[in-house]
Amino acid sequence: MIITLDGPAGAGKSSAARALAARLGWCYMDTGAMYRAVTLVALERGIPLDDSPRMAALAEQIRIDFRAGRVLVDDRDVSTEIRTARITAATRPVADAPPVREAMKRIQRRMAAGLDIVTEGRDQGSVVFPQAEVKVFVTASPEERARRRHREEEARGSGMTLADVLAAQAERDAGDRCRAVGAMRAADDAVILETDGLTPEQVVDRLVALIEARRGPRGPA
Ligand code: DC
Repeated sequence: MIITLDGPAGAGKSSAARALAARLGWCYMDTGAMYRAVTLVALERGIPLDDSPRMAALAEQIRIDFRAGRVLVDDRDVSTEIRTARITAATRPVADAPPVREAMKRIQRRMAAGLDIVTEGRDQGSVVFPQAEVKVFVTASPEERARRRHREEEARGSGMTLADVLAAQAERDAGDRCRAVGAMRAADDAVILETDGLTPEQVVDRLVALIEARRGPRGPA
């Protein structure tokens, strides 16, 4: 069974996806981390990020695994490196390139084949897994999302103000919504889950309830 969680950054999607997969004992795929990992390796190997055929080929060459909450590229733990501001900025145009998105779609389908999996990103329910049994678009108000992100930035000591975070978030959202291929949008049959005022546990509870409603409370996974 596949559950897709799409939505903007800061809506609580990633932590919900990880916690949901852990609670269900299912696999977990963080597709944003996959775009970030390809970008990191390209920078290391000197591959021009705007050479989208080479970037797509690179995506097919490397092996990305999610293990115990870590992201591995060819068995190397890149979890921290892929989250830097430099990689966040460099990943955006990579994720815009149609050949890269096509390659990612193939890879993501291959990785999920035959598994019970929670997959999260921007286009998982709308493009990559249109047949997914449960599709959720996880969102929250811009202010709530910025507050959450700002708390993370403070914990990291980045010095960003709430206004900085809000501005960067608005720019990122616009980019995600407007890309020609794989734009962020809720699939027509997605459930919209607003997380304002919900704790992470409550978000996971709602997701579990959606899955149970789909398969019946005692049905097979
Ligand atoms: O969710 P994130 O911030 O880790 O995503 C990193 C980048 O990849 C961001 O620019 C959005 C993009 N992305 C995408 O285009 N499609 C996805 N399915 C997941 C992420």
